[in-house]
Amino acid sequence: KRNKVGYSLIEYIVFGGYEIKPWYTSPFPEHINQNKIVFICEFCLKYMTSRYTCYRHQLKCLTFKPPGNEIYRDCKLSIWEIDGRENVLYCQNICLLAKCFINSKTLYYDVEPFIFYVLTEREDEEESSLQRSPKFHFVGYFSKEKFNSNDYNLSCILTLPIYQRKGYGQLLMEFSYLLSRKESKLGTPEKPLSDLGLLTYRTYWKIKCAEVLLKLRNIFKSQSSEKWENPVHQLTLNDISKLTGMIPTDVVFGLEQLQVLYRRRTSSLSSLSDFNYIIKIDSWNRIENIYKSWSSKNYPLLRQDKLLWEPII
Ligand code: COA
Ligand code: NA
Repeated sequence: KRNKVGYSLIEYIVFGGYEIKPWYTSPFPEHINQNKIVFICEFCLKYMTSRYTCYRHQLKCLTFKPPGNEIYRDCKLSIWEIDGRENVLYCQNICLLAKCFINSKTLYYDVEPFIFYVLTEREDEEESSLQRSPKFHFVGYFSKEKFNSNDYNLSCILTLPIYQRKGYGQLLMEFSYLLSRKESKLGTPEKPLSDLGLLTYRTYWKIKCAEVLLKLRNIFKSQSSEKWENPVHQLTLNDISKLTGMIPTDVVFGLEQLQVLYRRRTSSLSSLSDFNYIIKIDSWNRIENIYKSWSSKNYPLLRQDKLLWEPII
């Protein structure tokens, strides 16, 4: 599975207190890629070839946080907005790091057209040995093209392997849709997705659809309107799109996984228009269970009210 073309694989990356094994080669400059071990500063993402250079660097690199604006903070988690035009080197370094875990071709040097959203975990002051400013540890990020004619709201996403399977990927995805909803737009990730990207999105779409269906049912229940025997009877793909910020194609993915989507027999089979689909819930219990078993994982939730951000119009 490894890409052996060009360089032999770096054996591991020293990042913060961790040693992380790359999955694929990344186009670091040749003098970096010739090494078995690469040292990356977890704050400014500068890459270095020796422990000594890295040690010297740490004495000088005292910002302990990503560049850009902190636009979200909830407990230990923050999200930073970084313009590829203003922090070229930092954003190029993110891309080079990300490429270590992505097989397909991605961008590395042409970062100006993109905005980067970096997720960090804050280490509280009392936990660190020196009583200095808190440290914001890099967890993952996604990039977003500033202008595109598609509905893309996410270009590339990464959770560092040391933080994977804890719900951070979902949190970043949720954040990308939150920004879309703030812009009054529908969004979808740029294609093609990696295998892991697709797996994670499929889960995201499924859970979001379950969440919306259950919320709507509760609203209808509380209105105790008897005509809503099956409350989602008249619900359309476009309704769910508007509520989630997901384009209808992705809503279809989500609803299909919940097994609540039925296709009408029509001549125009490829059309995604609402007319071709019926949403029908046979078992609310099943939807509830899917949602409950997800919630019980206690992954971090995104709190919309913690976002300090307005779209540029
Ligand atoms: N195997 C099976 N299911 C997976 C999975 C895996 N390796 N990774 C994610 N999922 C699904 C699961 O349903 C998971 O829930 P669970 O862990 O409770 O089973 C759910 O997605 C949530 O995953 P989450 O913890 O939010 O994702 P993550 O933080 O691990 O990040 C990626 C997901 C895709 C960002 C991460 O795998 C990654 O960085 N991959 C390398 C880069 C890449 O391929 N990016 C996408 C293309 S640009
Ligand atoms: Na997990």
